[in-house]
Amino acid sequence: MSYNLLKGKRGIIFGALDPNSIAWITAERVHEEGGKFVLSNAPIAMRMGQINELAEKTGSQVIAADATSEEDLENLVKKSVEILGGKLDFILHSIGMSINVRKGRAYTDQKYDWTQKGTDVSAMSFHKVMQTLYKNNAMNEWGSIVALTYMAAQRVFPDYNDMADNKALLESIARSFGYFFGRDKNVRVNTISQSPTPTTAGKGVKGFDGFISYAEKMSPLGNATALDCANYTVSLFSDLTKRVTLQNLFNDGGFSNMGVSDAVMSTFIGEE
Ligand SMILES: NC(=O)c1ccc[n+]([C@@H]2O[C@H](COP(=O)([O-])OP(=O)(O)OC[C@H]3O[C@@H](n4cnc5c(N)ncnc54)[C@H](O)[C@@H]3O)[C@@H](O)[C@H]2O)c1
Repeated sequence: MSYNLLKGKRGIIFGALDPNSIAWITAERVHEEGGKFVLSNAPIAMRMGQINELAEKTGSQVIAADATSEEDLENLVKKSVEILGGKLDFILHSIGMSINVRKGRAYTDQKYDWTQKGTDVSAMSFHKVMQTLYKNNAMNEWGSIVALTYMAAQRVFPDYNDMADNKALLESIARSFGYFFGRDKNVRVNTISQSPTPTTAGKGVKGFDGFISYAEKMSPLGNATALDCANYTVSLFSDLTKRVTLQNLFNDGGFSNMGVSDAVMSTFIGEE
């Protein structure tokens, strides 16, 4: 179903790697709602992924940018404004990576070079994206910037490892930069805290299969899918949410406010 909620709006969508990516599904939904955008991903991901298929399907251009490189981001923002024919209305930061997670290093045995790289990619890149947009005055008034996060920023999920700290920083950057973007440019900045979702990044977390089933059983509405996340993002890009800013918004079927559910309790019955 489409409501033309993003008709006439332009933006940049970071992080579509393959059809499972939350950014991929979001790009499809934004396209259906009438939004126009440039797709961006790291040069290496563009070689390995299928982003050109998505570009063709959505009539978009692709510009490679390593989100840790100020130079790449400067080029991306300037070219996007040119290509799309004006300033931007929406940005999706859907980028995350931890080498410690990928290589199975425990939280108590981190290799700090890897930790640093993960922080740079997963959190500091959000500051860099926003600073580039801000300094180039590239956002239209009442524009909307969204980054994706996970509840391990607030609560302990041991296997989420150093990504928990990266997400805490990401959410803090959203609030801090969101203040200046709101005050100076009437632009809103929020994070969506999404349920576990079977994507390349998601499945890289140890014990993901068990964890996604646990979250499903704990959440009264079940896990939010990538499509649910895409739809929520569309609402945040639309004019229907103009004064929602500095928020970390849970799109998780209710998981974050649960203590325990009947479904989870039933697995322990008979143990006392
Ligand atoms: N999948 C989940 O369970 C889940 C839950 C909550 C939040 N999230 C968040 O959603 C976002 C999207 O992840 P996803 O689950 O769709 O997985 P994904 O693997 O499809 O997307 C991650 C993206 O980050 C990109 N990326 C990595 N390094 C980069 C760099 N240096 N520059 C630019 N891009 C780079 C990758 O190429 C990839 O496209 C991430 O921030 C992730 O942490 C995911």
